[in-house]
Amino acid sequence: MNIDDETTSDVGLEIIRLEVSEEDRQVEGALRPKTLAEFVGQHRVREQLDLILRAALQRGNSADHVLLSGPPGLGKTTLATIVASELGAPIRVTSGPAIQHAGDLAAVLSSLTPGEILFIDEIHRLARPAEEMLYLAMEDYRVDVVVGKGVAANAIGLDLPSFTLIGATTRAGLLPSPLRDRFGFTAHLDFYEADELEQIVHRSAGLLKVEITQDAAVEISKRSRGTPRIANRLLRRVRDYAQVHTSGKVDIDVAKKALALFEIDDRGLDRIDRAILDALINKFGGGPVGLSTLAVAVGEEPETVEDMCEPFLVRIGYLARSARGRIATPSAYQLLGKSVPAQQVLDISE
Ligand SMILES: Nc1ncnc2c1ncn2[C@@H]1O[C@H](COP(=O)(O)OP(=O)(O)OP(=O)(O)O)[C@@H](O)[C@H]1O
Ligand SMILES: [Mg+2]
Repeated sequence: MNIDDETTSDVGLEIIRLEVSEEDRQVEGALRPKTLAEFVGQHRVREQLDLILRAALQRGNSADHVLLSGPPGLGKTTLATIVASELGAPIRVTSGPAIQHAGDLAAVLSSLTPGEILFIDEIHRLARPAEEMLYLAMEDYRVDVVVGKGVAANAIGLDLPSFTLIGATTRAGLLPSPLRDRFGFTAHLDFYEADELEQIVHRSAGLLKVEITQDAAVEISKRSRGTPRIANRLLRRVRDYAQVHTSGKVDIDVAKKALALFEIDDRGLDRIDRAILDALINKFGGGPVGLSTLAVAVGEEPETVEDMCEPFLVRIGYLARSARGRIATPSAYQLLGKSVPAQQVLDISE
């Protein structure tokens, strides 16, 4: 559904939509850190990348292939662009779903210039033949292109310039191991700490020329689900509120009122998160329930629930995944003001 759709009657809907909106896309370019030094948090990953990039620069050849994995909005695309700018190399951007056939990939690969960065977003969604072509390209900088059909088909080997592949995925688990193993370095991005998000809020406020008090920045970061994209998004909504209702300065009062208007609670849970926990407890007796059944109950795609909502709900301990399905934890019952059934305690400790 398009969030800009005029028929959207519910204002709360816009903010809880976790997909990346057109507005996000436009603002993200401006808010994206350009260097590793500007990139907040993820200290270990930053240090490791810094080492890899420096070594490659010293040797004067292209850096090893890098896989970036982690939930949406944590900085995978940002890091890919940073790697390119730190190496002073051009970057070519494509995505798994954009490459339907091996031929599409061959065309991209054969037009790379030496040292270029190839960024494949959502790499877990590459078509199988393209994925297999990538194995050889990553390892030997070669592709075999098949020309002709049937008995006349002929494979022509093509040498490629050395390049660095950066793959991004929200689902590292879905990557076949031959592909995963060909990356020289895998970085798993984790949710950000509140103080890191606070820094990001201040940084973005500066870039957006929004005046913000320290306690308001703390409030926004507390409710950002550990995710920079959400911190930036909440900041923009709070700024809108301040612009319309007050002098434009964001203080704690404005922040709280705006976040309440958009139905973001103290922990950062939005309406979909609460709907998931509510369905789990009130419709399915606390689970276990399968992902697709749960998704239908809240009117979302299974992928949205799995990629966008669950990682955070699991992280803060409201939801558990078991072999038999999703389970509400005792904290989720407490959140909804319900007592925990005895059977539930048994299920969790299984
Ligand atoms: N470490 C960081 N410091 C400052 N800002 C950040 C950081 N990480 C991400 N951001 C901000 O968050 C926004 C989203 O980041 P990005 O687009 O890189 O996420 P992503 O992991 O690629 O998400 P997706 O999986 O949806 O593609 C960016 O616009 C950027 O401004
Ligand atoms: Mg991205």
